[in-house]
Amino acid sequence: MKFVNSYKEKMKKYNEEHKLKYYIDTMGCQMNENDSLKYAGIFESMGFEKGEEDNSNVYLFNTCCVRENAENTLFGRLGMLKNRKLNNEEVYIAIVGCMTQQEHILEKIKKSYRFVDVVLGTSCMSIFPEKLYYAIVDNKKKIEYIDVSNALEEEVPIAYNDKYKASVSIIYGCNNFCSYCIVPYVRGRERSRKPEDIIADVKKLADEGYKEIMLLGQNVNSYGNDFKEKYTFPMLLEELEKIDGIEIIRFMSPHPKDFKDDLIEVIKKSKKIARQIHLPLQSGNTEILKKMNRKYTKEQFIELALKLKEIPDVSLSTDIIVGFPNETEEQFLDTLDVVRKVEFDQIYMFIYSKRTGTVAAKLDDEITYEEKVDRLERLKKLYEETLPKLNEKMVGKVYKVLVEGKSKTNNDLYTGRSSQNKVVIFEADESFVGKVVNVKIDSQHLWYLKGTIIK
Ligand code: SAH
Ligand code: SF4
Ligand code: F3S
Repeated sequence: MKFVNSYKEKMKKYNEEHKLKYYIDTMGCQMNENDSLKYAGIFESMGFEKGEEDNSNVYLFNTCCVRENAENTLFGRLGMLKNRKLNNEEVYIAIVGCMTQQEHILEKIKKSYRFVDVVLGTSCMSIFPEKLYYAIVDNKKKIEYIDVSNALEEEVPIAYNDKYKASVSIIYGCNNFCSYCIVPYVRGRERSRKPEDIIADVKKLADEGYKEIMLLGQNVNSYGNDFKEKYTFPMLLEELEKIDGIEIIRFMSPHPKDFKDDLIEVIKKSKKIARQIHLPLQSGNTEILKKMNRKYTKEQFIELALKLKEIPDVSLSTDIIVGFPNETEEQFLDTLDVVRKVEFDQIYMFIYSKRTGTVAAKLDDEITYEEKVDRLERLKKLYEETLPKLNEKMVGKVYKVLVEGKSKTNNDLYTGRSSQNKVVIFEADESFVGKVVNVKIDSQHLWYLKGTIIK
């Protein structure tokens, strides 16, 4: 479905006089961040100016519901804006994204937050301009549940906020239904974008000077499964590799169950695919994995991870959930065992959060919250013990780094990320910014590496 904004000119006209500012508050994952760049693109095409948190007129909350705490954050922020509305300031509020796909949230907004102007779910960008226009110009607001979560919207304007790195969504939705996860319920089924649309986007980014792209999807390696003709994620990667100007290609997240040899081969051959792969483990125990509906065992995961680590210079990152309902101490120890054997360079750790509507929400859970926090701490400790050792292996070697700019913490130095996604700082000057350079690593400092640019 092609995105057409019939309200662009009308809203622009209004904005010539009113000069409204927009502010976007993004919660959640990189898919949401990418969506927010599109919302920013829509705002800008309609003549809105980018504002700050305290001086804007239209506030857009792009919400997440993957874990519980986001709800309180959202409703807290709405409360603060309500006062500005009551003071008759020209303030409008829109709530979009995953959280609004949940009926109880919608009910809560309808009941207790009637001052909200626009509420839309995921994949609703085509409706957004109209709703916004009516809320602002005609002062007509309607809070309704709009389920077009199976739409695939193309040609939405996008306002990137980085000059050299850009994210590109390649597949929307998820079919996996991991038992703890709300995403398939709020993002709908898998819809792959056509390869030609993705390739055209990436070519355009390359022409604009972008050096690094991040391909996004809840499960990137099931890309193409919904096509009639065979076209796979590895095939897409091979096409993108050919685009001049793009020097680093990243992707997230792949699902371990779909990580086949053809993908490994393409990564091995590639000169552009980053030497960092995100491989979400979730749990290291086969029984828990089964209850999670992850479709791999402890042993299969370790085998895959070690195979990937055989690719020179590859680093692995992962997601882990501790305290799945009734996870025993022994089962948790399996997770630590996998972490010890695989040695991840980065771990995103979460305490299990019950999500109404998911299969796991029906399971009994006798594990106390304190126990879950304790497991998280133990996992964190193990990770932090492993990291210096992994970093140490990088010292003395040379890595490709995209120079991003001055380091915020050390203003005399410049910073960038290596292909392994490690923060590296080094001496440079402004002429290096936006270029991919070779950096020899001199020392490791847990969360960053220090190095020297070499010719
Ligand atoms: N599709 C991606 C990421 C999904 S959400 C993937 O499969 O890797 C990002 C992470 O949030 C998940 O990997 C998982 O670790 C975590 N997560 C999802 N649901 C959760 C829940 N109910 N409680 C705690 N963490 C959760
Ligand atoms: Fe959630 Fe699993 Fe889909 Fe990831 S793969 S979004 S964890 S259901
Ligand atoms: Fe959250 Fe939706 Fe992403 S629930 S993690 S913003 S897909």
